[in-house]
Amino acid sequence: MYINGNSDIAENIRKAAEAFERDGFAFVENFLSDEEVEALRQESRRLIYEESVKERKHQIFGNEYNAKSEYFVQSGSKIGYFYEKKAFKEGTSELNGPIDQSIAKIGHALHALNPVFKAASTNKKIKDVFRAIKFNDPTILQSMVIFKNPKVGGEYTPHQDGSFLTTDPPEHVAGIWLALDDATAENGCLEFIPGSHRLPLLRRFVRSKSKSSDALIEWTSPPNEYQDDQFVSVPVKRGDMVLIHGLVIHRSAANQSNHARWIYTFHVYDKGQSVYLNDNWLQPEINDTFIPIFAN
Ligand code: FE2
Repeated sequence: MYINGNSDIAENIRKAAEAFERDGFAFVENFLSDEEVEALRQESRRLIYEESVKERKHQIFGNEYNAKSEYFVQSGSKIGYFYEKKAFKEGTSELNGPIDQSIAKIGHALHALNPVFKAASTNKKIKDVFRAIKFNDPTILQSMVIFKNPKVGGEYTPHQDGSFLTTDPPEHVAGIWLALDDATAENGCLEFIPGSHRLPLLRRFVRSKSKSSDALIEWTSPPNEYQDDQFVSVPVKRGDMVLIHGLVIHRSAANQSNHARWIYTFHVYDKGQSVYLNDNWLQPEINDTFIPIFAN
C-alpha cells in the first residue's frame, strides 16, 4: 500500500491524529523508508555542494541576524542557505570546517522549487496525515532542512510555530518533521509541553512597521518563560515522523554530541478553514510558493 510496504502505517497515522488532538504533537515510527530517507539526504548534500557554493554568501543563522537580512526575508519564497554562528573563524566570513558540517539550514521553499522535496511533501502518506487531522485544503507555506551538526548545531528556544506563520483563526497550522538521522536528547531532539496547543497564540514574528530601526522583521512581544520540567523529550529514529500543532510550545537543545541531527520539516495551513495573514514575515513575493497538498 505504501512505498515502504508497511501496511501498519495507516493505523499509525490514525493513532497519531488522536494523540495530536490530545497533546498537540504525535509521532509515527518508520514513516519514511530507508530509500526515502537516503533520497532526501542525498538531495540535501547536492544542494549544499552544488547550489549553495554558487551564491558565495555565508549567512549566519539566528534571529538577531535574520531580522536585518534581506537574504533571509527573500528566502521565504526561495532556497536560501544559512550557517551556524560557531562554524565561522572568529571575526571572519571563512568557515572552520567542511560546508556540510557548518550549515545550519536550507529554507524556505524547497517544497515548491525542488522536485525531490516537493514529492516528499505532497505524496500519498502526507495526504493521509492531513486527511486524518481533518484539514480541508492543506497548503504548504514553508519548508526547511535543519542540520544541527555535531558541536556547532544551535538550540531552538521555546516557541509556537504559529508565531512565524499566523492564520486567522490561529489553530489551523501544523508541521511535519521528518527525521533524517536518529534524534536523541544528546543531539537535540524535539521537546514539547503536552497540551500547550490549547493556549492562545502568544506572540508573532512580523514584517517591521517601525521606521526607527533597521530591522525588516520584528517580534510583537518578548519571549515567555518556561520551566524545564514542563517539557517532555521526544527522541525518534531515522525515518520517523513527528506531527506538530501550530500552537504547541516546543524547543530543541544544541547538539553537544558527535552525531549530526539532520531533519526535513515543512509547515502547512488549512486554506479551507483559515486565512494566512499578510503581515507574517514569510510571504510568497518572489515565487508563488504556497502549494496545495491535495492538488499535487
Ligand atoms: Fe518549531
